[in-house]
Amino acid sequence: MSFEHIVFEINEQIAVITVNRPKALNALNSATIRELGQAVEQLAHNTQVRALIITGAGEKAFVAGADISEVNSIESSLQGSQMSEALHDVLWKLGELPQVTIAAINGFALGGGFELALGCDIRIASEQAQVGLPEVGLGLVPGWGGALRVQRLAGTGVAKYLVLTGERIPASEAQRLGLIEKIVPASELLDEAHKLATKVAKNAPLATALAKRLINRGAEMSLRDAIAYENGLFGQLCVTEDVKEGTSAFLEKRAAKWQGK
Ligand code: CAA
Repeated sequence: MSFEHIVFEINEQIAVITVNRPKALNALNSATIRELGQAVEQLAHNTQVRALIITGAGEKAFVAGADISEVNSIESSLQGSQMSEALHDVLWKLGELPQVTIAAINGFALGGGFELALGCDIRIASEQAQVGLPEVGLGLVPGWGGALRVQRLAGTGVAKYLVLTGERIPASEAQRLGLIEKIVPASELLDEAHKLATKVAKNAPLATALAKRLINRGAEMSLRDAIAYENGLFGQLCVTEDVKEGTSAFLEKRAAKWQGK
């Protein structure tokens, strides 16, 4: 499948999606969102790939949000809601992928760009990256889950501060607030993302996929229900070939060879 607005590469266990509209600071128009969805769907069926890195082309921006000229041409609330649903659909799919998703934030991650990063499992950023949810300055609310995911990651106060001021904050401040996990110099960002992806790929595939699912689904449950869910997954994993292999490898002081079952 060939793409016009993204670059989609797979190298053994690691996939990389680069949003590739640098002249528009990688803003997400509907064609780009469609391509993102198609790439993510391909990965859902790929058992070899263990991690997905998402980044932006060029040095300036990860993604500067929804394409504002497209928003400007919306003519009905139905059309607006459909635009919102389109990336939500991609973000839900990212959340359900067995692969670990890593946003490598190489510059501005604003509005929908920050929302795309927030839909990933891990966020790393270059030192000069900035994030923010400036939608109210355009007359909108964040339409791709940004307010709500920031609220869950960093609390209601931080969500209200970012959304109501629309302020852009540096990566260092976002890291302090728990919105970014790691910051590295720009020249090291993609290497660092690959290192993280390689680290992930060393662990058991099924356990990794279920750990991600536990955290994602658990976040929507009461602690008691989430622990019951954890209990079931733990039991399920205890009788897999991978747990026999992982524990035997530990006892025999050798590297494990995973089968993903
Ligand atoms: N949509 C469409 N085009 C965009 C864009 C966007 N979100 N962001 C930047 N561009 C375009 C600019 O129009 C400009 O194009 P031209 O060269 O053709 O004029 C080009 O990218 C470069 O941008 P700037 O000249 O503005 O670059 P700058 O360095 O002066 O500023 C910036 C950089 C601060 C990121 C600024 O571009 C900016 O504020 N962009 C918009 C950020 C924003 O408001 N994002 C939220 C979008 S709404 C949203 O995401 C809704 C949602 O939740 C679903």
